[in-house]
This record gives sequence, C-alpha cells and structure tokens, in this order.
Amino acid sequence: MSAWLTAVNRHRTTSILKVEAVSPTVKVFTFKDRQCAKACPGQFLMLWIPSVDEIPLSILDVDREKATVSVAVKRVGEATGALHNMRAGDKIGVRGPFGNSFTPKKGKVLLVGGGVGIAPLTFLAKELAAKTASKTVVVLGAKTIEELIFLDKLKGLCGEENVLAATEDGSYGIKGLASSLAESVMTREKFDAVYTCGPEPMTRAVLDHAEKLGVYAEASLERIMRCAIGICGSCVIGGYRVCRDGPIFNINQLKTVKNEFGFWKRDFNGKRVAV
Ligand SMILES: Cc1cc2nc3c(=O)[nH]c(=O)nc-3n(C[C@H](O)[C@H](O)[C@H](O)COP(=O)(O)OP(=O)(O)OC[C@H]3O[C@@H](n4cnc5c(N)ncnc54)[C@H](O)[C@@H]3O)c2cc1C
Ligand code: FES
Repeated sequence: MSAWLTAVNRHRTTSILKVEAVSPTVKVFTFKDRQCAKACPGQFLMLWIPSVDEIPLSILDVDREKATVSVAVKRVGEATGALHNMRAGDKIGVRGPFGNSFTPKKGKVLLVGGGVGIAPLTFLAKELAAKTASKTVVVLGAKTIEELIFLDKLKGLCGEENVLAATEDGSYGIKGLASSLAESVMTREKFDAVYTCGPEPMTRAVLDHAEKLGVYAEASLERIMRCAIGICGSCVIGGYRVCRDGPIFNINQLKTVKNEFGFWKRDFNGKRVAV
C-alpha cells in the first residue's frame, strides 16, 4: 500500500460540528478532518458511527481553510438512522478520502443527479464555477419537491435558468424521471461532457443516451463497500473494484461492464441481486 493510501486510510476520530436537515429524509453533517478537506469532487470517505457500522459517503463539500468536510446522508437503514439521531458534539470516525474524482472538462457540461446522488455533483458544480468559464446545466430529479435537495445552492452556482428539475409526482418541474428530462436536454443542446450520479437505472439511461449522441460521459457508481482500499472485493463490477478504480467511471470503461451496470450488483453475502 502506498504511503499516501496508508495515511488516508488511518482511522481518525472527530466531532460533528453541524447537522442540518435538508429534506424529510436527508441531513447534512459537517465535521473537521484535514485529510478529507483536501478531497476532489467525486471522492468518498468512510464514516464510522460508533457501536453501529462504517459506511461509504460521497463528499458534498469541503472548506480547505477551515479543514471541514460535509456529507449529505439519506436515512435508509441502521447506520444512517443512527447517524440521523446524532447531534453536534457527538463523536464519529473517518477514513479517506478514497477513490478517483470527476475529470472536469472545459466547455458546456451537463450534470444529472437523482436523489442524494446530487451530492458529489454539487461539489463538482462548485469546482466548475470556480475554475472554468464553462456553462453548467443541471438536471435534478427526485420523487417529490421535498426531496429535491440543493436546488437553491445549484441555482446560485450555475444560474437559475440552468437548473432544471423533474419530480415523479409532478410537484415541481417536469413530471417524470430525471433521465427522461436529461435525454430531452441532451437531444436539444450539444454538451462537451455529461456527469451523472444517482439510482443506477437512471445513470445507465443517461450514459446510453450520451453514447448514442457521441458525448463524453462519466458516472459515479455505488457498490457494497467494506475496506475502501481494494482488498475485500465486495465492490467488484466486471474487472473493476469500485473503491479503487472508481467510484467514477467513464463511458468507455462502462461499455466493458454493460451486462452488469444498471442491472445487478452483489449483496452483503456476495449474491447477485438486481439494482
Ligand atoms: C461510493 C459511495 C458513495 C455513497 N454516497 C452516499 C451519500 O453521499 N449519501 C448517502 O446517503 N448514501 C451514500 N451512499 C450509500 C450509503 O453508503 C448507504 O446508504 C449506507 O451504507 C446504508 O447504510 P444503513 O446501515 O443505513 O443501511 P442498511 O440497512 O445496511 O442498507 C440499506 C441499503 O444501503 C446499501 N448499503 C448498505 N451498506 C452499504 C455499504 N457499506 N456500501 C454501499 N452500500 C451500502 C445497500 O444497498 C442496502 O441494501 C454511498 C455509497 C457508496 C458506495
Ligand atoms: S470495498 Fe473492499 S475492495 Fe472495494
């Protein structure tokens, strides 16, 4: 293991500085961690909830000067439920940052995020706004208006007219799926790159459309992760380990795992299950 990976993989204990509810099911947690505050958009960390579990989470934002990090966490089960019950001052553990990051391209780019999958794309939008003069269009999707997170933040970063939304119940924006809205936007306008993160059937549909149009694209993948450093094999897709070779994969890499991507993954016992 390289000296760099040994350093980031060392378990650190820190305290939660701030907890903010951003939807009925999602909270943002901010804490101090010097290593993770150096992260790039797309990287993830492993967050340890004492006596419960350690879980992978995408990095939502960093403040390099204050050395703080934020993550957006959806309550889905035991670990995320326990984390949602924690408050400022409570102790947590951190390893990371792990994995690769999005490749920011110049020009006109499209970000397509579903649910809490918009978290790493919000970090990317911030970097694109600061570093390139490119136009960034965002397609944001959720089940209902209440679950449409970071809408105002993204409007502030990319311009109000460049943030489009789809909700499944039609309570905000277009009624339907983010992937359908993204497909119509991509057909109407030409983009230099597309970045996507969210439910895998959504990212698969976006990537398939990008391939049809010949547009460069990257997607962030989720698999069960335990070690986060490429040893345990629980995150494998085709010949890739998502924790070390990803979580960001480009369109050419994903072409080689077409039979798996968007269709199935491994569960905690290594059994194939539908995504
Ligand atoms: C690279 C990566 C980045 C992620 N980023 C975010 C994020 O920014 N915000 C967010 O809310 N969630 C994120 N997740 C998903 C998050 O890790 C799971 O929701 C969490 O682990 C669920 O834990 P639980 O005990 O609450 O739920 P459980 O009841 O244990 O599981 C509920 C479901 O969550 C998934 N899951 C559980 N444990 C893991 C694990 N160790 N690795 C991957 N998936 C798991 C499984 O699909 C499982 O069926 C990310 C996952 C990965 C792999
Ligand atoms: S999580 Fe262990 S190899 Fe990827």
